[in-house]
Amino acid sequence: MSVLQKAMPDPGGMAAQFRELFGDEKPRLFFAPGRVNLIGEHTDHEGGHVFPCAISFGIWALAAARPGEVVRLCSLNFEEEGVVEAPLRGVEFDSARGWANYPLGVIRVLEDHGHALSSGLDVLFWGNLPEGAGLSSSAAIEVLTARAANDLFGLGLDGVELAVLSQEAENKFIGVQCGIMDQFASSMGRKDHAILLDCAKLDYRYAPLALDGGRGPQSRPCRLVITNSNVPHSLASSEYNLRRQKCEAALADIARVRPVQNLCELTMEEFDAVKDAIRTPEALRRARHAVTENTRTLRAVKALESGDLWAFGRLMRESHLSLRDDYQVTIPELDALAELAWAQPGVVGSRMTGGGFGGCTISIVEEAAVEAFIREVGESYAKRTGRMASFYVTDTSDGARRVTDEP
Ligand code: GLA
Repeated sequence: MSVLQKAMPDPGGMAAQFRELFGDEKPRLFFAPGRVNLIGEHTDHEGGHVFPCAISFGIWALAAARPGEVVRLCSLNFEEEGVVEAPLRGVEFDSARGWANYPLGVIRVLEDHGHALSSGLDVLFWGNLPEGAGLSSSAAIEVLTARAANDLFGLGLDGVELAVLSQEAENKFIGVQCGIMDQFASSMGRKDHAILLDCAKLDYRYAPLALDGGRGPQSRPCRLVITNSNVPHSLASSEYNLRRQKCEAALADIARVRPVQNLCELTMEEFDAVKDAIRTPEALRRARHAVTENTRTLRAVKALESGDLWAFGRLMRESHLSLRDDYQVTIPELDALAELAWAQPGVVGSRMTGGGFGGCTISIVEEAAVEAFIREVGESYAKRTGRMASFYVTDTSDGARRVTDEP
């Protein structure tokens, strides 16, 4: 079991490495956070609501414009791969470029939308988001690239536009049909808040994440604890696309009996009235998850805003059960982590978070109980699954931003 501490890069050391790699330019330092979704899972691609927050783990970049038509990228997380060079204009996906496809996809999408960079670019990345954990390292590097390009080349795009373009890079360049949640949270996060986002309209508002004890009689100060199952979410993109297809099939079936744009516009009553039109039990279960989860998310935010954190926690548990039984994206390791958390004293709520098939759970835990939580859940998880969990006690964070002019 390990507890990852929040580590900031040493900007001076990073700047020295930047100069060594790229020469004597004056780079600026940028940061984009990862995200954790508190509730509203697998609703973004069905036009529903999500409730993520940006976290204090993320990716930093030192970036500078350079003359010429070449982009040079290096990541301290993949140092052995050295500097990746690519053409500034018309860059195509190339598997040989590995991780660098994420930033390059953003540069390409910016160009396709008439925001071509006016010259080349050098970037040195460093991140402390565990890879494959479902905390949106890919969205963070995309949004970070978009934010840095926007700033260095004066593109004049706002945070929502940067999120939408980053999602397009993931969909079209990388080929993963994700929704908007991850890029939106990384771009638009606000410290001490989570974002209630309507993914159909891109309307959003911030809800204070009152973890300081709140107003309820049972309330004590709480922390967000992310537990990594350390099962990489490798099936995630194939299974993800399959889940989306089943939801589309359900939507098409419903559309034969009533006009409908997306599943999450239906209330529970409306869904119950049309659900018999869905032709397969599998599509019915997938659609039922989308509709119930959307409703749960709205109820959960209401509960949080009225100061009832424990009601929020109960809805987190219901969300996990729906993801397990109806959407079927949990795996035994995620179920074990959630069940062990529910049995611990001082746990307000716990559920799997992100796409599923590996990755993490998110738990709201009373501060005084965090140490015992990490010990007990860690030990029991190891006994039950033979795996070691990792724990990240995280703060919330602002969205992607320039950190300094010069490190
Ligand atoms: C992944 C996707 C998101 C969202 C979640 C599930 O993180 O990138 O768009 O669909 O899964 O809620």
